[in-house]
Parts: sequence; C-alpha cells; structure tokens
Amino acid sequence: MVSDILKKNILNKEDLVILLQVNAEEKTLLFEHAAEIKKKTVGNIVYFRGLIEFSNICAKNCFYCGIRHENRNFNRYNIDDEHIVNSARFAYENKFASLVLQSGELSSQKFTRRVTRLLEKIHKETNNELRLTLSCGEQSEETYKEWFNAGAHRYLLRIESSNPELYIKLHPNDKNHRFEKRLECLNILQNAGYQTGTGVMIGLPFQTMEDLANDLLFMKNYKIDMVGMGPYIEHSDTPLWNYRHTLLPLAERFQLSLKMIALLRILMPEINIASATALQAIDKLGREKALKVGANVIMPNITPGQYRNDYHLYQNKPCTDDSAEDCKTCLEARVALAGNTIGYSSWGDSKFFLNRNNI
Ligand code: 5AD
Ligand code: SF4
Ligand code: FES
Repeated sequence: MVSDILKKNILNKEDLVILLQVNAEEKTLLFEHAAEIKKKTVGNIVYFRGLIEFSNICAKNCFYCGIRHENRNFNRYNIDDEHIVNSARFAYENKFASLVLQSGELSSQKFTRRVTRLLEKIHKETNNELRLTLSCGEQSEETYKEWFNAGAHRYLLRIESSNPELYIKLHPNDKNHRFEKRLECLNILQNAGYQTGTGVMIGLPFQTMEDLANDLLFMKNYKIDMVGMGPYIEHSDTPLWNYRHTLLPLAERFQLSLKMIALLRILMPEINIASATALQAIDKLGREKALKVGANVIMPNITPGQYRNDYHLYQNKPCTDDSAEDCKTCLEARVALAGNTIGYSSWGDSKFFLNRNNI
C-alpha cells in the first residue's frame, strides 16, 4: 500500500520505483504528503532567482541539447557586460536577491577571466547584496576557485543522469563528455564551498524507472544542496530526435517530473528545489503544479529580450517573447495561485547547506 510506504522513515530504491508509478488517488496521496513536508520544513515560500542566459556559445555536443556546437541553425550570441549588469540591476531593484548566470560551456582563459570580471562588476553595481549562482558547465578546480573568490557562491551542474551507461548514450563518446569528469566537478564544487546544485532530465530515451529512483538516491547520497530537474523535451536539430517515437507521451513525462519533485522533497526536506522552466513547455500551469508538490524556487527569465529566442535548449520553451517585467508579473500571479508567497529580499539559501555547514 502506498500509504504504508509513505509512512516509512527511509525510502529505498524499490519504494521509489513503486511511487514513481502511482496513479489516481495514490498519486494524490503522494503529492499531499510532499506538500505537507514542504510546508513543515522550508515553508510555502518561493524564492526568485533572476536567470540571465548570457551566452549560448557552447563547445559541447550533448545529443539532447538544441544549442549544441554542431547545430548551426540559429544565431550564437554573447551579451556584453553592460547589458548583463543592467539585467542584474533589474533583479536587484525588484528585490529578487539572487541571480543565475547561465551559458554554454567554454573552457578558455578568456572565458574564465570574463566571468570573473562579470561577477565583480555585478557585485559592485548591486552593493554586494545579491547571491550569485553560476551555471557554466565543467571547469578546472582553479577556475571554480577563481569564480568563488570573485563572489559566486552557488553552482548548478546537472548530472543529467546518474547512470553512467545512460550518460554515454546521451553524449558523444569522447574525452569532452565524460561522466566521471562531471562527478569530479561536483566534488570540487562542494569542496570549494559552493552551494552545489545538480539535476537530471526526466523521460529521456532509454531511461527506466530504476534509473530515476537511482537519480533521487544519488542526490541524497551526494548531499546535494539544490536541484533543478525537469522533463526531457525533444528538439528536432539534435541526434536524439531520432528516438522521439520511443518516448513517453509528453503528459506522462510531465506527471513523472512532478512525482520526482515530490519524492525528492520527501527524501531531502530541506534542500532547494527549482520548478524547472521545461515543465511549462508541456503544461501552461506546469511551474505552479511543481510548487504545489514540493518545489520552492523559480527562475524568472531576465535575459534581455532580443536574445531569448536563441537560447533554444528544447521546443516550446516559454517566455521567449516576454520581457523581464512580464515574467515577474506573470510569476507573481502564478505563485499566488499555488498558495505560496514570494521571499522577496531574501537570499533563500538552501537550509540543508546552512545546516551542513553549521551556519
Ligand atoms: N530537454 C530538457 N532539458 C534540456 N536541457 C538541455 N536540453 C534539453 C532538452 N532537450 C537541460 C539540460 C542542461 C540544461 C542547461 O538544460 O539538463 O543541463
Ligand atoms: Fe552545451 Fe550544456 Fe547544451 Fe551540453 S547541455 S550542449 S554543455 S549548453
Ligand atoms: Fe515568463 Fe510567464 S514566466 S511570461
């Protein structure tokens, strides 16, 4: 019985596999349980992280991703510092308290220095009051440390799948796309003192329920502080498009994503869980639904308008025709609809991280 499983103190892999497949009333039970845990631990407060996709130039060729290096069907951009700082100021003035700077993956001295300068400029322009998160892929230990010293205190690096055999099927089999390297980067980030985030895609070709259960346990075993995970959405300009016929229907991928979020909240009550934008590409109310079952972070897109269409990771990506102001207003209404309040002016650090470090 699902209600018995939910009463257990520790959920094992078999429990998780069962819970990932519940439907109807049992699914409602799962979601209510997760909602209850969220309310009791992190509270019904949602933190905003202004998302700036500052460059879509990427050296990698992940088989699922629309901005992979070999895709030439769109414009590459690299927003100049001044415009990025303007977006940061928007976040600051609107009391977002926290920013995510995301880009494709490049590893060069020039890129490293550029990001360092950018972090310093943003801190200077916003009175050192913003928490800055980076999401710029795999880098060397020196680079991660340099960025930490320049004021980045959180880092997002999705593992994409914790199953090395599945990882290989999603990436070219070369030295730039090694699962072990991804793990090593997560370790370095944690040791360097970052609040470390990871995540996976849900509903990938070849992925099983066991894989997803293991992904959840991976996050727990790795003592991850924050997670962003969402449905995989096929993109026609990528190699995985060929496997689109093997995928679960979108509506099922969406439900599975909600279950993953609910289960993660149960397994790791005090971490930060983002309501991924990809949820909204499937269901107009996708992000609100995730807030109701456990997510507590939303990333309003504040990338300057002219670039948004070109950060095209997957199809139907929402907000590409909207402004930073539009997304803010829209999300305020959505958070209220989900019965949550917005934690304006609060950093919203991961409670799990603070406890882990006795802060
Ligand atoms: N569907 C869903 N998410 C995707 N990402 C990349 N491509 C897709 C896709 N087709 C996610 C990856 C990556 C993040 C930047 O975007 O998980 O880590
Ligand atoms: Fe580049 Fe990230 Fe897309 Fe892979 S997922 S191709 S690293 S932007
Ligand atoms: Fe961007 Fe609704 S969140 S328009």
